[in-house]
Amino acid sequence: MMVLLRHQRYMTALLSSTTILLLLYFQNYMLVLTYGSYGLISKKVPCACSICVTDRENSNWFSEQYDPNIPLLLNSTNGVLHANVSRWWKELQSSAGNYTEVVDQLFPLFPDKEHYSDAGPDRCRTCAVVGNSGNLLGSNYGPLIDFHDFVMRINKGPTEGYEKDVGSKTTHRIVYPESAVDLDNSTHLVLLPIKILDIQWLISAFTTKNITQTYTEVPSTIKANKDKVMILHPEFIRYVYDNWAEGHGLYPSTGFLSLIFALHICDKVNVFGFGATRDGIWHHYFEKILTSYENSIHAGRFENETINRLQRENKIVMHKGWT
Ligand code: C5P
Repeated sequence: MMVLLRHQRYMTALLSSTTILLLLYFQNYMLVLTYGSYGLISKKVPCACSICVTDRENSNWFSEQYDPNIPLLLNSTNGVLHANVSRWWKELQSSAGNYTEVVDQLFPLFPDKEHYSDAGPDRCRTCAVVGNSGNLLGSNYGPLIDFHDFVMRINKGPTEGYEKDVGSKTTHRIVYPESAVDLDNSTHLVLLPIKILDIQWLISAFTTKNITQTYTEVPSTIKANKDKVMILHPEFIRYVYDNWAEGHGLYPSTGFLSLIFALHICDKVNVFGFGATRDGIWHHYFEKILTSYENSIHAGRFENETINRLQRENKIVMHKGWT
């Protein structure tokens, strides 16, 4: 009798705990069904790549530096600068000029669009940022670079004659007047304006062609598709300086700005042609002259450390031409 009673109690306890477990499971399932469909507890997937740049969960450091709301490019509605940006940006230049008057001339002339608003869970926008380092020589990266949706090149870095190592596709070229080169019809000219005169030069290059001199001689005009011109926002330059270069140097280098720009318009960023060669030599792949990014203007060493950290935190993949 005692055995039967114990068995009965055991069965009751088992049944009740199973019922409780089942109820809890059901309640949880209902919660997921109800709130999940409203996106309240479902994980937001920012893109369709295996790892997305803007996936905020995998790096606190990155999330603290990255501002998804920073204006990247100038357009007719966002040209007014915050006082602190305006002061900082104007202090970089020796030339005078009325910023508002100059910016007002930009958008009847160049496309006035909301660019790069096509991010989404179904897209995986891949970008190759190609710097000008000598470590590209002999790398055979050409086909890999060309495989990306966007291929961003910097300053004068040529493709002709170097296709095997650097590829032949260019979707964006980031330049300033002193580094500008002719582009084909499908490439975006992305101007990095360090001074008001740079914006004046851009306007002049597509209209009067009368500006031929900044602190050095500059081309009076260049071959480029006017409808693909973009101008980096001074606010963006200041943001890169503050958040990513952490105030080192006078302003960020073109390569560093291009890389951070890519982090804002791509879902996956592969970086080529940054850093020294295997022998520790810093030079361009297209000339023998030695280069240095550690000077009174750019903080090359700090930028390099930040780039290495971005790689460690899985935000970019560096291709150095050697292992
Ligand atoms: O020399 P230049 O500014 O035209 O090179 C473009 C960018 O490529 C640089 O701003 C730098 O970020 C990168 N670069 C590099 N190592 C080199 C040459 C260039 O990281 N040896």
